[in-house]
Amino acid sequence: MSITKRIKSVISGLIILFSAFGIQTITAQTVWLDQLDLSTATQGYGTPGSNKTVDGKPLTIAGKTYERGFGSHSESSLTILLEGKATLFTAQVGIDDEVKGQRPAAEFVVYGDNQKLWSSGVMRLGDTARTCSVKLNGVRKLELVVIDGGNGNYYDHVDWVDAKFETTGVATFKTFNPISNEQYILTPKPSASPKINSAKVFGVRPGSPFQFLVAATGDRPMIFSARGLPKGLKINKKTGVITGSLSKAGTFEVTLAAKNAKGKAEKKLRIVCGDRISLTPPMGWNSWNCFANEVSADKVKRAADAMVKSGLINHGWTYVNIDDFWENNRDSKDESLRGEFRDVDGNIVTNSRFVDMKGLADYVHDLGLKIGLYSSPGPWTCGGCAGSYGYEKQDAESYAKWGFDYLKYDWCSYGNVINGLPNNDPSKVSSLSYNGGNELNTAIKPFKVMGEYLRQQPRDIVYSVCQYGMSDVWKWGDSVNGNCWRTTNDITDTWVSVKNIALDQDKSAPYAKPGNWNDPDMLVVGHVGWGNPHPSKLKPDEQYLHISLWSLFSAPLLIGCDMEKLDDFTLNLLTNDEVIEINQDPLGKQATCLQTIGELRIYVKELEDGSRAVGFCNFGIDRADISYKDFEKLGLNGQFVVRDLWRQKDLSNLATESGELKLNVPAHGVVLYKFTPVK
Ligand code: GLA
Repeated sequence: MSITKRIKSVISGLIILFSAFGIQTITAQTVWLDQLDLSTATQGYGTPGSNKTVDGKPLTIAGKTYERGFGSHSESSLTILLEGKATLFTAQVGIDDEVKGQRPAAEFVVYGDNQKLWSSGVMRLGDTARTCSVKLNGVRKLELVVIDGGNGNYYDHVDWVDAKFETTGVATFKTFNPISNEQYILTPKPSASPKINSAKVFGVRPGSPFQFLVAATGDRPMIFSARGLPKGLKINKKTGVITGSLSKAGTFEVTLAAKNAKGKAEKKLRIVCGDRISLTPPMGWNSWNCFANEVSADKVKRAADAMVKSGLINHGWTYVNIDDFWENNRDSKDESLRGEFRDVDGNIVTNSRFVDMKGLADYVHDLGLKIGLYSSPGPWTCGGCAGSYGYEKQDAESYAKWGFDYLKYDWCSYGNVINGLPNNDPSKVSSLSYNGGNELNTAIKPFKVMGEYLRQQPRDIVYSVCQYGMSDVWKWGDSVNGNCWRTTNDITDTWVSVKNIALDQDKSAPYAKPGNWNDPDMLVVGHVGWGNPHPSKLKPDEQYLHISLWSLFSAPLLIGCDMEKLDDFTLNLLTNDEVIEINQDPLGKQATCLQTIGELRIYVKELEDGSRAVGFCNFGIDRADISYKDFEKLGLNGQFVVRDLWRQKDLSNLATESGELKLNVPAHGVVLYKFTPVK
């Protein structure tokens, strides 16, 4: 049945008036919210519920069950076209009783034609339902929004119950998702002549094996060379891989060159041999967002092959990281994962899908790439596999012996160590326990232990601290030798998740610097799905915004998708060298939001050459069509060349005193410009 018919068929609550002449006139009707198409709502995850919660259970607020309503998540948004035909919206709102974790809290807000018409104030689990009653005369577009109530959890279950509209006559209302589905490609195809795209700076420790690939686009064959390479290093002319090792600390300015039939390109590389590594944010791939517990050595090899075949390697993408599930899980129903955690000598045992870790590392290195893996400071990982608790030294040695370059170290069951709970039986207690993570003395300790053992290894291992931002990790991550640290809970491929993570990054921004990166979690473009891959649910503009922001944030860029299913649109997102260059800028600053105009947030990142990258980021559901003049608010003063980085085109010469910029930013989209001072 069509929506129109459905709504008409359920008209209820007719008020029938008799005129003086005895003629029946329909003057009002009731349209229930649950009779509209609720599937257009955007929310954390799950299916928006019509007369049920997101989990499909009866709608229940503070012990009272309601028959009708819309069950959703905080955060969520539902847009309804009323076209001025409704007079009143009424509902009861509240947090559903079904999820009790993390002190559920949310705020319900009603917007009419972008004006806030009503708010519930912050509501918590157990609060009795609050009454929403909003006069709507003339409102064309209504938005029912639920935002986080301050507990930082965007998946609380929230209900709009007994929700209905009064209208002046027969009316049909349509819900819609206002964000465009149009996929459009902005990144120009690379030219046939050589262009070197690798980072401008590279850090290595004295004595460590050196591996750096001169990433370059352009026709093959290509001949690589490097002038000024310090003693101990050599470049492979065919592959562009620089190897060897440096015995002493020092800074070396090298000129890289790449030549093919079409021409020659040069680029400077600063090699800094000293204490610090990861002088630009790590770029690569990680298995989790795509394969989760279905990862295998074969899939990792194929991802590495795809990194090369797709050409991503020529844009600086380097690490191929195995997440959870290379270790054994004693209780798994899946035989390929089941087995003892350690051998009789305490060495970590890999599961049957990863029979030869050294062979796998060699395979990846031979492609010119690097390889990473995952563990937990607790006795087991988030997936219930073997963790490193009590075996940290031995594990760090195994990683180095196998030839690994990157470790993601995930808090997970460490909370159980603090609680003194049994540390050898993952089936007895939940894996993920935040206990102790919010107290500094217990939060830091386990990461320090592993950080020190990693430093003792005869190779450079990037250390990625993962504890979801507890105890302001950005303030102490460097002191445990961390190179990057997660600032958030796990990302999902939803607008709500990406938006909320993005809005939460400013507080840690001052702590980003070469060798220390805030990590807002991995990328959710391409086919993602945690073992059940599907095209990212983010709309195309949301994906442009996601990549632009992660670049501006100097975030580690870890692709989370199935590398064998890279489509043109996704490749366009991941191969824009001018956007990547913002992320890889050697100054290592992180953009912050310097100005907000309605839902338009303007992020500015200072760059090494004195220019600034500016992201005009539209978090709203309407296009932002404005003439922009507030340049001094962005720290821009004087004459600038303005360049559109996605299109790789200079736009104008701008004098900030008198000039203005016409901005037309798509809903949930971005315009990313670079302002370079004219000398
Ligand atoms: C946690 C992390 C994820 C992933 C999984 C693996 O949830 O935050 O990124 O590593 O564990 O189990």
